[in-house]
Amino acid sequence: MNYNPLAESLNADLSMNGCRILDMLSSKGKAIFFPSKGILGQGAEAKGASINATIGTALEDDGSPLTLACVQSALNLPKSSFLYSPSFGDPNLRAAWKEQILRKNPSIEGKKFSSPVVTAALTHAISCAAYLFLDEGDEVILPDLYWDNYELVFENGQNAKLKTFNTFKNGGFDTDALKEALQGEGKKVVLLNFPNNPTGYTATEQEAETIANILKETAESGTPVVTLLDDAYFGLVYEKGVYTESLFAKLADASENLLAVKLDGPTKEDYVWGFRVGFMSFAWKDATDSQLKAMEAKAAGVVRGNISNAPSISQKILLAAYQSEDYLTQKQEKFNTLKKRYDVILDVFEKHPEYKDAFESMPFNSGYFMCVRPIGVDAEILRKELIANYSTGVIVLSGLVRLAFSSVPTDKIPQMFENIYQAILKLRA
Ligand SMILES: Cc1ncc(COP(=O)(O)O)c(C=O)c1O
Repeated sequence: MNYNPLAESLNADLSMNGCRILDMLSSKGKAIFFPSKGILGQGAEAKGASINATIGTALEDDGSPLTLACVQSALNLPKSSFLYSPSFGDPNLRAAWKEQILRKNPSIEGKKFSSPVVTAALTHAISCAAYLFLDEGDEVILPDLYWDNYELVFENGQNAKLKTFNTFKNGGFDTDALKEALQGEGKKVVLLNFPNNPTGYTATEQEAETIANILKETAESGTPVVTLLDDAYFGLVYEKGVYTESLFAKLADASENLLAVKLDGPTKEDYVWGFRVGFMSFAWKDATDSQLKAMEAKAAGVVRGNISNAPSISQKILLAAYQSEDYLTQKQEKFNTLKKRYDVILDVFEKHPEYKDAFESMPFNSGYFMCVRPIGVDAEILRKELIANYSTGVIVLSGLVRLAFSSVPTDKIPQMFENIYQAILKLRA
């Protein structure tokens, strides 16, 4: 088996000087590594930079964590928060989250879906989905611009393979490439993530309809389709004409042969990155109540078998926040903060047409991030130059420079782009 060079290096350490520990590891144990060169390593290198656009959290303009006051005020909790939560999750929180899915996705009205099962945030929910739907060697079909942790979850965790298709065509989502990737026999597992990490792109209303139709037609033609919807950045859509609901709403009753799995949570939506709470919900056409309950029990069984249950204290805090009458107003305020940064980016591009000669900006309309493709300069060399000489930290993924505007103070955004522009000119010279 070919190991990642980072795994090779750990394995070399574990077999040095006659050490026998490497032989004691399972095949997955031998293949796993800590991704110290990816987002985490690049983020660490940018520590201390005066403009730090690396990290997928959100910061206020003064650099403090962007948080909802109703979450913070719920931190003083009763003793019951010390007890375990059920493996399915706190029943009141599950009910509150289901109500929120209904409120945030009006077109799901009248369609049946399971009660959400609580996980230890989205990474864990994705990993539970991998456990439930993928066998060794199975493929996960996804766009080629994706969150890099999917590799550890699906490939290392489940011995599955990522099969990517082209993300963008003519400034929009490449729905033809999705259709092409679904050809062939056998069950298909598709993963879609809107708003997307790293691009900050969400399908337009029309594209969402086309995507849903492609998946439905594939299922109706006899191919079983499992659609995993990573809705981590749900709700942060900044443009008109962009689909503001989850594809879950369109897919919930698409076909008896199409299982829609919604993976979501408060991590990014409610600005509680360290709380570690997420949800998995299931839907398909003509599902009965007892069948939906059976899927919930399967998911809760996976939770029970790997973390037993998600943090009780975080679930209690979130429930209190969702019951606060200030919750929606406070969320709107924080949305406005991020939307303002998005608007500033558009304004910077309008004022600086010369930037187009130095970098191409990828389509973006939502979420925490946007990406640029440097022209005539290697992205990784540019990243290093930005840290070394411009005190600016960015992330490089798939040859693109990812900018987390969620964590850059609004008034530093123009300087961030000027630094990128100047660094590219300098490297070209
Ligand atoms: C697309 C996407 N999915 C999932 C996650 C993980 O979220 P969580 O922190 O809830 O595990 C992230 C975090 O960066 C993400 O970008």
